[in-house]
Amino acid sequence: MTKSLQAIRGMNDILPEQTPLWRYFEGTVAGLLDGYGYRQIRMPIVEFTELFKRSIGEVTDIVEKEMYTFEDRNGDSLTLRPEGTAACVRAVLEHGITGSGQPQKLWYIGPMFRHERPQKGRYRQFHQIGVEVFNLAGPDIDAELILLTWRLWGALGIRDAVTLELNSLGTSEARARYRDALVAFLSERLEQLDEDSQRRLKSNPLRILDSKAPQTQALLGDAPKLADYLDDESRVHFDGLKARLDAAGIPYVINPKLVRGLDYYSKTVFEWTTDKLGAQGTVCAGGRYDGLVEQMGGKPTPGVGFAMGIERLILLLETLEQVPEALARQVDVYLCAIGEAAELAALTLSEQLRDQVPGLRLQVNAGSGSFKSQFKKADKSGALFALVLGEDELAQEVIGFKPLRGQGEQQNVAWGALAEHLASALQA
Ligand code: HAM
Repeated sequence: MTKSLQAIRGMNDILPEQTPLWRYFEGTVAGLLDGYGYRQIRMPIVEFTELFKRSIGEVTDIVEKEMYTFEDRNGDSLTLRPEGTAACVRAVLEHGITGSGQPQKLWYIGPMFRHERPQKGRYRQFHQIGVEVFNLAGPDIDAELILLTWRLWGALGIRDAVTLELNSLGTSEARARYRDALVAFLSERLEQLDEDSQRRLKSNPLRILDSKAPQTQALLGDAPKLADYLDDESRVHFDGLKARLDAAGIPYVINPKLVRGLDYYSKTVFEWTTDKLGAQGTVCAGGRYDGLVEQMGGKPTPGVGFAMGIERLILLLETLEQVPEALARQVDVYLCAIGEAAELAALTLSEQLRDQVPGLRLQVNAGSGSFKSQFKKADKSGALFALVLGEDELAQEVIGFKPLRGQGEQQNVAWGALAEHLASALQA
């Protein structure tokens, strides 16, 4: 027997029952970003592999073991994007968007691909909404990014469930000095490190700071601290950000071990985390990457941004029961037409109603059927009202207007008065 076809592990269908919540979420974020003056950009899903190697870093988990990389028919090495920042930087450089030095506030949405071990909140195809800002170096814009996510959590009703973790990685020079000190300290205690951290000591020592191994964490208690190596410029920048968050009343926790898994960051890094989703608790993360544009071949250009994981935020909305009730209903009105003459009249009437009642969600019965069967379908559709058109109604040029959810009795409404009647019934 042939094996039945299935989706790839970790790559999910988003079914019709789930899409209203996705659209609500995406619409809320898009509206919010409009309100802060961010413009949407759309990049391809596939890029040259080199792009991700150069930006994310050769010795990161993403580039070393998580990318979907393949050779296309020309022999080029291509990769399904594992994140959006690299492609966004590539796009702004390619189109000269940042060259003038003017501030650019951009956002994007779409699927990202990482070959991670799938579990709740962690998938191989997942979706992000990301924001990237170029040509603004001060902490005021870092604060704006955090402020707008804070507003989003408020709009979604999940503020109480998320915590802002904040750190500064300093300039790349400060970080290099710190890296040397950390490596010197840990090299002397090599045998006390877990195996993964021993490997990272050579390739990416800063990542040892967020190791989960208890023996490594114990050792780090006495290790040099990144904060002690911060240069003055980074310290002033970080103080500026904290002062703004304090002024705006946004709570945060300084997490000196927050280093992020991508190499391009400098100065500010942050994560919004929740303890409501189990192990995959980071719902939104980002930071500053002042060296990246130059590293990719552009002029020195400050950059800062973040990306949120849509699946994780949807899970959080469901877990906290913050799914708006109105999303359950996809149909306002169901039109039942009994007999061919009524079906023909229903066609014209329904099109008129769509013209006259903006935003109306009207489902016209398809597949004919008896009164009883059409009513059943009307009820099942979740509609608030059924419109009934049979022989008698047709002769009198009226329509039976029947509330389905207990708001009064059925009554006849003249065709000419129907749009107004419907609009006011839907507003009530
Ligand atoms: P990231 O931390 O790799 O950063 O991902 C951002 C968010 O995407 C995570 O906090 C999480 O919510 C979600 N996410 C990541 N991997 C998965 C997965 N396998 N399954 C489900 N959700 C996931 C970046 O991608 C940076 N580009 C963010 C950024 C933008 N920094 C500056 N600008």
